[in-house]
Amino acid sequence: MDLIVPASLRMEHEELHRELAAATKLPGPVGEAARAAAKVLHPHFVDEEAFALPPLGLLAPLAEGERISQAAPAIAMAARLKAELPRMLAEHQAIGAALQRLAEAARSAGDEEVLHLAEKIAAHAKTEEEVMYPAAILVGEYLKILA
Ligand SMILES: [Fe+2]
Ligand SMILES: [Fe+2]
Repeated sequence: MDLIVPASLRMEHEELHRELAAATKLPGPVGEAARAAAKVLHPHFVDEEAFALPPLGLLAPLAEGERISQAAPAIAMAARLKAELPRMLAEHQAIGAALQRLAEAARSAGDEEVLHLAEKIAAHAKTEEEVMYPAAILVGEYLKILA
């Protein structure tokens, strides 16, 4: 198996990235707020795809009891996520604030689509905090036990 971001999560990131990129092209306060949100979001996505999400690619094979050949890099990624978790969560706060401004601008402009996008990205961050990040860290802890 490969140590890669599960396809479902990669597609979700791509969709959010694509829709926000489209919103940054809008004129006026909505486009302005979208550009501000994109600025904080994109480097965060890059980090997530570098070390926070790839360990999740091992969840299914681990649950199946498969032998994991990529344990060492997965353990290293999970350890990095654990160490950098405070920064990742602080980034979520900054992203959340930017999304709130985006939602306000969209509401004022009557732009339902961008309003929905802002809510969707905020929900994504919440899922990461509650499920994805802890699961990725646990993958590393579990691999250490198996080793
Ligand atoms: Fe994300
Ligand atoms: Fe995130």
